[in-house]
Amino acid sequence: MIGKLNHVAIAVPDIIKASETYKNTLGAEISKPVEQPEHGVKVVFITLSNTKIELISPIGEDSPISKFLEKNKNGGIHHLCYEVQNLDLAIKKLSEKKFKIIGVGIPKLGAHGKPVIFLHPSGFNGTLIELQQE
Ligand code: CO
Repeated sequence: MIGKLNHVAIAVPDIIKASETYKNTLGAEISKPVEQPEHGVKVVFITLSNTKIELISPIGEDSPISKFLEKNKNGGIHHLCYEVQNLDLAIKKLSEKKFKIIGVGIPKLGAHGKPVIFLHPSGFNGTLIELQQE
């Protein structure tokens, strides 16, 4: 089921400051901030040769990452995103095995315009997992 690591998402309190560190100190290629109201976040994409890093900061009152940043004031790794060949089949298999899918289990369009779902950290050793259609 599992394919490539698509990205690692890092929640940050100040997305401009964080992206400048990646650009100016680490010499990374970064995007402009992109707002994703449907996910309650603003994202900066950092392209590495083998994967991507996404810096995410909250937008709106009820952003899903607000609580995370309350607990982790300096930010932290928020989730990992794996690609899967067939997201619908993955959802079916995971549901059958009683893994908790966040929300109603219907894919939303993710940061890359492809369908994604999130799997509850309880099933994955405390790590929030995003699955993205390849
Ligand atoms: Co993500």
